[in-house]
Amino acid sequence: KQYVVAILGATGAVGTRMIQQLEQSTIPVKEVHLLASYRSAGKTLYFKGEPVTVEEAKPESFDGVDLVLSSAGGSVSAKLLPEAVKRGAVCVDNTSYFRMNDDVPLVVPEVNEDALEGHNGIIANPNCSTIQMVVALEPVRQKFGLKRIIVSTYQAAGGAGQSAINELKREAQEYLDGKSMNAEILPVKGAKKHYPLAFNLLPQIDVFEDDGYTHEEWKMIHETKKIMLGDKNSPDIKVTATCVRVPVPVGHGESVWFEVGDGNTPTPDELRAAMADFPGLVVQDDPATQLYPQPQTAEGSRDTFVGRIRPDLETKGAYNSWVVSDNLLKGAAWNAVQIAECLVRRDLVRVPEGGAAKFN
Ligand code: A2P
Repeated sequence: KQYVVAILGATGAVGTRMIQQLEQSTIPVKEVHLLASYRSAGKTLYFKGEPVTVEEAKPESFDGVDLVLSSAGGSVSAKLLPEAVKRGAVCVDNTSYFRMNDDVPLVVPEVNEDALEGHNGIIANPNCSTIQMVVALEPVRQKFGLKRIIVSTYQAAGGAGQSAINELKREAQEYLDGKSMNAEILPVKGAKKHYPLAFNLLPQIDVFEDDGYTHEEWKMIHETKKIMLGDKNSPDIKVTATCVRVPVPVGHGESVWFEVGDGNTPTPDELRAAMADFPGLVVQDDPATQLYPQPQTAEGSRDTFVGRIRPDLETKGAYNSWVVSDNLLKGAAWNAVQIAECLVRRDLVRVPEGGAAKFN
């Protein structure tokens, strides 16, 4: 069987990479539809060297489509994906809109591919920072147990879209030219205040919740539990997070402290061995040769990289580590296309009876 695939948000930072990851995937593609806002309608993009005209996304755009890869923002997904499912298209959604919906699996294939069984037509791609953290820690959880995670993130501008990368570069030039930097997007589009990211650090990603955490931090807590334990509120792994935007275009870093199961005290070498055996995870950890993961060396790769693994010197069974991945690939476009590959392999590219009703 060959599939008709639509990419929603095809002109964006993630969408353009979805095109590229789909070109390189094992999915037999009969036809692609590239969808974006009215602003991009008529523009030409390429799929496997062939020109494809971008269309404005509308409900009818999904007639005859088998599979949708979507990354055009939460409000666009909220409006259009139920329409796509109604028309029989299975959607892999990169936005946060459906992630906590109990009728929607939240999937990182290396960790919980089986959650795809019984989907209702929409599968959610997790938050970029959550994906790379669970890839690094799932082998630890499987082998030694996992009780607690304390994570601080160093997140690239690209997580906020292509326009945020453009803003960072413009601000950097303004700074070097001795001009005042003009911030219009970060930390959050539509917020009351904007601050420059160039030569700066912004401890705000997404909006603030009433409890003082940002929504990005909230996502890391609850998505981790839903992916690893199948329950977004499980008390079995305790997670706390601080999310920071750093002046890097692409590639998120994370300082991850974790505590393994009671009574276990694996050596760093045992942790590295378990991690090295895990699919999609590469250990780069050799202080003697200054080998450790960096955004610049991770960019363009589908893998997640882990290093700086060392025991907490004062807490038995606890460790520090450093995790890096290309947030636009494993954190977004590749994980979505990888989910689509799994759906094809498991013959799950169809909306089950009653599926569409869950989203209307
Ligand atoms: P467009 O380029 O026409 O604005 P990014 O994450 O890099 O900011 O990209 C967002 C993507 O979502 C772009 O492809 C953008 O298209 C698309 N998009 C934004 N608003 C809409 C909308 N209302 N309908 C469809 N696509 C949209």
